[in-house]
Amino acid sequence: MLEVRGVTKQIGGLTALKDVNIAVHEHEILGLVGPNGAGKTTLFSIITGIHRPTAGTVIFCGNDITGKTPDAICRGGISQTFQIAKSFPSLSARECVMVGALFGTGERVSLPKARETAEETLSFVGFPPEKVETTINKLNVIELKRVQLARALASRPKLLLLDELTTGLNPKESGEAVDLIRQIRERGTAILIIEHVMRVIMGVSDRIVVLDHGEKIAEGRPTDVIHNQRVIDTYLGDFNAFEGL
Ligand SMILES: Nc1ncnc2c1ncn2[C@@H]1O[C@H](COP(=O)(O)OP(=O)(O)OP(=O)(O)O)[C@@H](O)[C@H]1O
Ligand SMILES: [Mg+2]
Repeated sequence: MLEVRGVTKQIGGLTALKDVNIAVHEHEILGLVGPNGAGKTTLFSIITGIHRPTAGTVIFCGNDITGKTPDAICRGGISQTFQIAKSFPSLSARECVMVGALFGTGERVSLPKARETAEETLSFVGFPPEKVETTINKLNVIELKRVQLARALASRPKLLLLDELTTGLNPKESGEAVDLIRQIRERGTAILIIEHVMRVIMGVSDRIVVLDHGEKIAEGRPTDVIHNQRVIDTYLGDFNAFEGL
């Protein structure tokens, strides 16, 4: 479904990504892990058209989408949630999700239909129903994350990119998030997910790719990757990463 081929990204004098190749298959959940600054978010930005790669191509469903604009890529079937949750501060939760339904699919959608989709999707992600008319600047971080996820889902993506969706959640909440991620996949959406907590990524991913200093250092099934010596060396000392395993 998605193929990242030989992607390199120079930012000033820094090589944020170096000749990275990854593939995501239909219905797959692929975990993307690596230490801070490894290049994970930069890779997402290149897939969704926020940044252009210095070299390499991104192929989605057989089409070269390298350098296309984020709105075109979204309408083509890729949507994302951001590491730092943000949205339109003066819109209500429901209106934010309506933006995804109205402009994210490439189809003409009526306002009543968009409103219905927004309410259904907010309910699906567990957003409190009494807050659908609350403006974004009055929501807490967890509620904002749910709005982001609903907004991304309302554009009916074939591939969903999640950047640290469970960061900041307590174990119960992150367990609920994992259930939700599985349900999204069961509805037919492939998922590429960045997470720092190994317990989450191990529990949800079919395969894992590990980035370090912009390079792919390991790839495979979760149980194989976690025993890979290069991965262990990369994480040495970062006991938080292995919390709960
Ligand atoms: N806009 C930018 N300007 C300058 N440097 C940047 C920019 N974006 C990313 N970088 C640098 O590129 C490298 C990769 O950053 P990136 O945010 O992709 O890492 P990450 O793996 O997502 O890290 P984290 O786990 O902390 O979110 C880092 O060294 C970062 O400082
Ligand atoms: Mg990041």
